[in-house]
Amino acid sequence: LKIAVFASGSGSNFQALVEAIWGQGIPATVSLLVCDKPGARVVQRAESLGVPTHLFNPKSYETREAYEAEIVDRLRAEGVELIVLAGYMRLVTATLVEPFYGRMINIHPALLPSFPGVRSVRQALEYGVKLTGVTVHFVDGGMDTGPIIAQKSVEVREEDTEDSLGERVHAIEHELLPQTVRWIAEDRVTLNDRKVSIRLG
Ligand code: GRF
Repeated sequence: LKIAVFASGSGSNFQALVEAIWGQGIPATVSLLVCDKPGARVVQRAESLGVPTHLFNPKSYETREAYEAEIVDRLRAEGVELIVLAGYMRLVTATLVEPFYGRMINIHPALLPSFPGVRSVRQALEYGVKLTGVTVHFVDGGMDTGPIIAQKSVEVREEDTEDSLGERVHAIEHELLPQTVRWIAEDRVTLNDRKVSIRLG
């Protein structure tokens, strides 16, 4: 399974996925990083890991559709079969979603549909939930709204700060994303309407 990861920031999930694929024998390859922030740490990580990068500056395009059309061309040229959004801080439009619906997933640091959008760990802390977690879902046109594939919970402790809770959430992300990619690579995930079923064992 050929994968493109889209990321804008640190890229710890990108690295965790690449390393899990190598170390755990997941039948997949991350063949491209797509990044909208030239200075992002994820770009250095891709370089060290030997993953080619499609780097672009959104400001040099008039519309989102224009840079997305270019991305779609690159994905097609590389034969990419699955897109993984891992900290890609932009909304995607139909230009990307339509050709890749059912083949594009996102990782989110909360138990959706709670706390969509940005700073989800802080939102969870401020709300006072006792349980939060991580969600991996298919991407549709909305913000963090698509069909859910996998979720894992993380307990909130009384003494937690955004940093301490964020660290535990991140650690779970680094397990759940590779696990979900394995299921997809092994063809165990079916999307029917908005319902996802997973064949285990
Ligand atoms: C993760 O929490 C991911 O769920 C969210 O953005 C963050 C990216 O972290 N969408 P990193 O860049 O992979 O460290």
